[in-house]
Formats: sequence, structure tokens, C-alpha cells
Amino acid sequence: MAHVHDELLERDIEAYLGRHENKSMLRFITCGSVDDGKSTLIGRLLYDSHLIFEDQLVALESDSRKVGTQGDAIDFALLVDGLVAEREQGITIDVAYRFFSTERRKFIVADTPGHEQYTRNMVTGASTADLAVILIDARKGVLTQTRRHSYLVSLLGIREVVVAVNKMDLVDWSEETFRSIETDYATFAAELGIDNVTCIPLSALLGDNITRPSVEMDWYSGPTLLETLETVEVADDVINGPFRMPVQWVNRPDHTFRGFSGQIVGGRIQPGDPVRVLPSGQTSTVSRIVTADGDLEEAVAGQSVTIALDDEIDISRGDVIASGDAPPAVADQFECQLVWMSDDELLPGRPYLLKIGTRTVTATVTRPKYSINVNTLEHTAAAALELNEIGACNISLDRAIPFDPYSENREMGGFILIDRFTNATVGAGMLNFALRRADNIHWQSLAVDKASRSKLNMQRPVMVWFTGLSGAGKSTVANLVERRLHGLGLRTYLLDGDNVRHGLNRDLGFTDADRVENIRRVAEVGALMVDAGLIVLSSFISPFRAERLMARELLDDGEFIEVFVDSGLDAAEERDPKGLYAKARRGELVNFTGIDSPYEPPENPEIHLDTSGAVTPEDSALKVVDYLRSVGVFD
Ligand code: ADX
Repeated sequence: MAHVHDELLERDIEAYLGRHENKSMLRFITCGSVDDGKSTLIGRLLYDSHLIFEDQLVALESDSRKVGTQGDAIDFALLVDGLVAEREQGITIDVAYRFFSTERRKFIVADTPGHEQYTRNMVTGASTADLAVILIDARKGVLTQTRRHSYLVSLLGIREVVVAVNKMDLVDWSEETFRSIETDYATFAAELGIDNVTCIPLSALLGDNITRPSVEMDWYSGPTLLETLETVEVADDVINGPFRMPVQWVNRPDHTFRGFSGQIVGGRIQPGDPVRVLPSGQTSTVSRIVTADGDLEEAVAGQSVTIALDDEIDISRGDVIASGDAPPAVADQFECQLVWMSDDELLPGRPYLLKIGTRTVTATVTRPKYSINVNTLEHTAAAALELNEIGACNISLDRAIPFDPYSENREMGGFILIDRFTNATVGAGMLNFALRRADNIHWQSLAVDKASRSKLNMQRPVMVWFTGLSGAGKSTVANLVERRLHGLGLRTYLLDGDNVRHGLNRDLGFTDADRVENIRRVAEVGALMVDAGLIVLSSFISPFRAERLMARELLDDGEFIEVFVDSGLDAAEERDPKGLYAKARRGELVNFTGIDSPYEPPENPEIHLDTSGAVTPEDSALKVVDYLRSVGVFD
């Protein structure tokens, strides 16, 4: 069976390609659950728009007979390839991008799974889409997941929604059913501020209203799905907005040429245009726009180019070259919306990597102001965010970055958060606005500094960080170390977990989030004490690598000395100086480290003390004191 018959293609391939090159492009996403018929719908679109090639078709027919669910007829869901998991388990688990094209337009469709667990995939697919097709099973109407999909679609800045009311054949093509779904959806869309909604009654399985008008539903006179996709106007906000190009790399083939390569994410640019480079604020003028096919007179959002400037200015990867008249703001604290995508909850205060455009910085998130119930759109108080939860948070970066609010430019205001140890993407977010308080707080320069204070103290200030299980001997050893140092006439201070929890941190318990905050405060206080010129000893379980790394990073190189007090769980539990292990084993104490709360041992501590038995606490303390002398903390 021959299926692809394009006369022009056979007659004049150049003309055919030329025509396709100038067509506009629509990126869309499809949202729906496994049973809504989403894969069938996409398969049908591809099939009916005559863009499947013969060999694919033959394979499809034999596949359908083998594994299809439609008897001898073609199972269109099988067209949607790459979804092995869906075939085998009945669910789609990743985003699949498919390309197709018709006479009028080119399309990229992101097929994302509808199961609740897969918010992450939907966010991935939606963040670049112009339009969303939301599937509704006509028998079921607007469901919780329809609301969730629609909320995410609006959150991610998609302004065009097509509601595909599928399986009309199973409700006897009933206009009444369709109209009531249409009305239900309109109410919900209005609440979300989605203005442009087109509802289409269809049957993906039978092909009604996909590419050809249905003969069964003569009461419907609106467009078919494909017609809608081909004709919908997508706003060119980004192209009409101010010029933005995050620099991906500095292109310097020889000393005669220096250009800055990247993809334009906003506006347009021509040689002679004034630009401003952020965050430095330096200005220059575009001298050339270079591409592999020669220089351009103009480039617009979406194109990847190399820009050369009139002046020799310092620009590196992650900087943004922007319109000289309308540059983006630069800030380091923001309010944002955050979609959490990890099994491990969001821990306020923990440093994560934040990637925005081509730039990566370190970021910490405050406690969420609220989380959003995606079914009712209500705001609920939240201490943390769990998998698939969405909330509003303040976020603070270790450096100022150029940005635009996500609502104005998705590339300039959209970011992901990455776990620093696993490298997994744990969240996706949208910057709303910069916090003004950040503008009003500056670093005050002080006349007396750390160096002069340490000189007076005749010691090199450091933070000696004891970590290990409860009962491992941290406080015992730290205490002995302090006595010896004190005896040597050195100025010290010992921060101890149990003691600090009576004062500064009396509001904190032992959840993961509270432990992160406990260590964050202690690290900050400790850093101030180091700045005061003291030798600071700290004795906290500090179970997480991320927070010990945070403490280390607050200090200069060589100032943080990690001491792993390692007794092993058995010895600590046997000693059980406070009877807490016994309590935890009896179930009277929850979240106890080593029992039902994790401890992540240091990978590269400066000092590793085995306190399981053979070595006395005095010997352990001596080892620490000797180390401090050897690295020049004192003479
Ligand atoms: S940390 O995990 O946040 O670093 P921290 O060192 O401040 O803990 O406090 C640990 C001390 O609190 C332990 O030595 C123990 O005496 C006491 N404690 C009470 N409940 C717990 C618990 N659930 N887990 C660990 N320690 C606990």
C-alpha cells in the first residue's frame, strides 16, 4: 500500500524542500492519561496526515497483528514508537518528541505521560510548547488529572489549549455530553487564566474530526484537530521582545577573530545594534552575525549564531548579550514557582545547583510560602515540597544573574535545580520577580579583618568539624582537643549539638529538613567565629554530605577540617550513653540516626578517627592536635 503521494515531491524535490523550509513551526504537547487514547490520537494524526512512509507502514501492520489491541485493524498507538515501556506495562514513562509536517505547517509534538508520577516529564515537554492538546475521555469528563494538566500548562506559560474530547463513539456521538464537558472545562480554564480554548469532539480510533470532519457529529461545525493545529496563531512575543542571547561558548579560532556563540532566546539583532552584556553591564555594538552559511543581516529568536562585537570586552559562558536599550535585570534573590520532581523532598537551606540558560550557580530555597493544591488551586501551608508538589518559594543564589520573569521570556526565567551529589534534576522552576530587599543590602567593608585578628591571636583560625553517629565519641574527643589547645594558650570555642539545641536551635527537631537548618545555622555561626580569629570545634552528627560541604564552602581553602569520628553503629549502640538507641529500638524515638534516619559518612575527611574501641579518646584527641600543628594552625 503506497501512502505518501506528494506530487511535488516526485516532480521537483528542490521546490518541495523549499516549500517546507518556509513553513511555520508549531510545538505542542499532548496531555492525557494512559486510557484516554493519547497514543492512538498521535498515531492517527501522523497516519492521516499522510506522513508515514511505506516501510514504516508495513512494519506497523505486522506489529499490530502481533501485539496490537485492535484485532486485524491497525493499532495506531503502535505508531508512537520508542515507548517500549508503555507497550509492556501500559504506561508511558518518558517524553518522546515526534516531528511531522503538512502542507501548511511543521510540527514537533512532545508526547508526555499522564500518570500522576510523571509531572516531571510533562514539565519537560511543556516548557518549550506553544500549545497543549488536553485529552478528555468523553465517558469520564473533566477529571482531577485534567485539572492538573491544565494547571501545569498554564504555569508553564502555554497560552493555547485544545481540548480533545475523545471516544465520542462510545457515548453515541452525543452533543449533550460534549457540551457539558465543554462548559465544565471553560469554568476551570477561566480560573486559570487560559483564554484561548478550543474544544473538539472526536474519535481517535475511528478518525472522526482528526483530519476529516465527522459524519457522525453533524451538530459540530468547528474545525478538525489538524485544521486547528495548522491554523492556530501563536503569539510571537519572544521574537517581538527585547534581544537576548545567553553565551554558550566563546569562539576564538585565531587571534584575528573573537565571537560569542549561542542561541538567541529573545528578539532580533542586526549588525550595528547596540548591546549590553550582563551581568557585567559593559556595552558595545554588533559588528557581525556569523553562521556556518555566511554572515547574516539579521537574526531572530530561535536561531543559533556567533556574534562579533566592535569592542574587546570580557565575556564568558553564561553571560547574556542583550539589547542595549532594554537589558534584563540582574539579581541574586527571587520569588519563584517550583515544581518538585524528586523522591527526596525539597530541603530548604540545602544548596542545589541551579541551571538557567547556559549558566550554573548554587542556590538555596527558603521554606515554601505555600504549596498549591492543583485540583482546587488552593494554597496550603507547607514545610517542604514532595514529589510532584508545586509551591512558591524564595530562592537565593551565590551570584547575581541576568534574568527576565518567566512570564516574559521562558528561557530567561526558567530554571532547573540539580542535586550536587547525584546530578539528578530534582526540580524545575520559574522566576517571578527579584526580591527588592536584595537591592537594599550591601556588603559593608570593615577596617579590622580576619587576618589582623588572627595575627593578634597568634593562631590560624580554622573550623574543626567533628561528624559521626550519636555515641561515636564526637563530644568526648572535641572536648579533650579543646582542653589541650586551651592549655597551649590558644583561643578556641566548642559548638556542641546538644548545647546549641538548647538555645539558638531550640526550635528544631530531627526531621531531615530540621537537621539541614541546624547545620546551616551552626555553619554560619562557626564561620563568623572563624572570621573572629578563633579555632572553632563543632560537634554535630551532621548526617548529610551536602550540609558538611556547605559548611566547608563558607570558609576559605584549608580552614575547614573534617574529622570523621567513626565507631561504627554497633559500638555506638552498645555504649548508648543517653539510652537513646534503646529508645529508638523500642520505637519510642523516631528519626534516630543510624536506626531509621540516614548517616552519610565522609568520603575524604581530613582526619579519620577509629573510635570503635582500641584507641583511647586521649590518643584520638592527640591525633587531631598534631594534625592542627602540622597544617600550621599554631606553632
Ligand atoms: S544533627 O543530626 O542535627 O547534626 P545534632 O548533632 O544537632 O544532630 O544532635 C544530636 C544529638 O541529639 C544526639 O547526640 C542525641 O543526644 C540527640 N538526639 C535526640 N533525638 C535524636 C534523633 N532522633 N537522632 C539523633 N540524635 C538525637
